[in-house]
Amino acid sequence: MRILVAGAPGQLGQAITERLSAAHTVVALGRADLDLTSEPDVLRLVEAEHPDVIVNCAAYNAVDDAEDNASEALAVNAFAVLGLARAARACRATLVHFGSDFVFDGRADRPYVETDEPRPESNYALSKLLGEWFAADAPRWYVLRVESLFGGPRAKSSVDRILEALRAGEPARVFIDRTVTPSFVEDVAGATAQLLERRPPSGIYHCVNSGPTTWLGIAEEAARLLGCQPDIVPISVRDVTLKAKRPQYCALSNEKLREAGIDMPPWQDALRRYVLNL
Ligand SMILES: NC(=O)c1ccc[n+]([C@@H]2O[C@H](COP(=O)([O-])OP(=O)(O)OC[C@H]3O[C@@H](n4cnc5c(N)ncnc54)[C@H](OP(=O)(O)O)[C@@H]3O)[C@@H](O)[C@H]2O)c1
Repeated sequence: MRILVAGAPGQLGQAITERLSAAHTVVALGRADLDLTSEPDVLRLVEAEHPDVIVNCAAYNAVDDAEDNASEALAVNAFAVLGLARAARACRATLVHFGSDFVFDGRADRPYVETDEPRPESNYALSKLLGEWFAADAPRWYVLRVESLFGGPRAKSSVDRILEALRAGEPARVFIDRTVTPSFVEDVAGATAQLLERRPPSGIYHCVNSGPTTWLGIAEEAARLLGCQPDIVPISVRDVTLKAKRPQYCALSNEKLREAGIDMPPWQDALRRYVLNL
């Protein structure tokens, strides 16, 4: 297949580009190659490349800044996706786009499923929800909701910050009361490759590693894998004031993906492969 990857230099974009390049012809695009907020440029480039699949890894991810820059967040996370979906329609391509757990309000007491009603509580979350809706304009489309991505070469994720502190023997500040299902970029890239082979029905799929945990659980498991005595400073969501509201409980169920034949490994297994560089 000929696959166009937008946002290729990003954390997920690099893993996706590497994984898909093994079996397909991949055209990897950064912002300098294509500014996704210019719909005419998007259409021109997609028509020229004529891909079978467009994978959109680009996003405006500055969650707090989006509270002051709603238009920028909407331009990249929502309207650029509409442009990609229209371009996909023009050349009958499949669109793969990535969503976020932040579309939920975090008041659940069990992992969210795809049919749960989104209730975005920040500009970032709203922009991501609109992106999901716009992606559905493509003739065949997949929105893979991911969460707390880790494992990209640019060490900037929450998991990387915890690992850095543990490795340096410094205190690791971790939330004890935020429930998450993190997504290892290698596993998201693998799931994306399988999705393109299996071609399940268009729709939203939760693409997270299996099993809910807290950031405390992740820090303890990371310390065990590193064989170190962790200096963990437990913090509560009540202790921290951030500009944008975050969901407190944001574990996602990946059962729908599993039913489509794509198994996501447990988060402990993903963390082990990342920490031990397997
Ligand atoms: N990171 C997480 O924990 C997380 C959680 C939930 C969902 N997600 C979703 O997962 C996907 C991948 O996230 P990520 O963490 O890999 O993102 P990332 O590392 O922040 O990379 C985003 C990429 O998008 C590019 N980009 C931004 N605006 C653009 C534009 N106007 N035109 C072209 N490219 C543009 C960026 O380029 P520049 O570097 O030049 O800005 C960057 O290469 C996104 O849909 C994100 O919303 C991520």
